[in-house]
Amino acid sequence: MSDSNKPSNRRKFLTNLTQVMGGVGGIFAVIPFLSTMSPSEKAKSAGAPIEIDISSLRPGSYKVVEWRGKPVWVVRRTPEMIENTLEENDILSDPKSLEDHQPSYTKNKYRSINPEYLVLLGVCTHLGCSPLYKPNSKSAELGLDWKGGFFCPCHGSKFDLSGRVHSGVPAPYNLEVPPYYFASKDKIIIGEDGESV
Ligand code: FES
Repeated sequence: MSDSNKPSNRRKFLTNLTQVMGGVGGIFAVIPFLSTMSPSEKAKSAGAPIEIDISSLRPGSYKVVEWRGKPVWVVRRTPEMIENTLEENDILSDPKSLEDHQPSYTKNKYRSINPEYLVLLGVCTHLGCSPLYKPNSKSAELGLDWKGGFFCPCHGSKFDLSGRVHSGVPAPYNLEVPPYYFASKDKIIIGEDGESV
């Protein structure tokens, strides 16, 4: 993740953003172009931790921010989403997140510090497209057993609302969870480990 300034990564990020904007019910944080960034914004792009205000995030909605040249999603789950998150789920490839694609403190069925908030890298683990947020269950497009999650239209990979990959799709593993912590009830720091309040 340290090579965020490479042009190819910049192009991939912009492609990802275009796809994310097509998602359902999203809140989009405006990302300035590099040429108009202030020094502090350039530092963020280079990999410094970033701070996200989640005070206005409504249940069921999500926010996209940039960290190290990649989109990071913050989803606020509804009580129903939390309830629908199963420990064991036959349709998932790695339901217990045994593979090392998240910090140890998010190695649970929610892949979260707080089940109400999901923080994920919005980059498909197949070839790097940005999946779409499809939170509604029973989607005609995605099948009647769809419980909500993320769908990558590039080659059809599916992930549940914890970012856990479905079996039999091109993506080889779960979406990555970056290091993060809650600096306060309404503030998440992404990009470093820390003690949550
Ligand atoms: S890049 Fe997502 S399925 Fe291929």
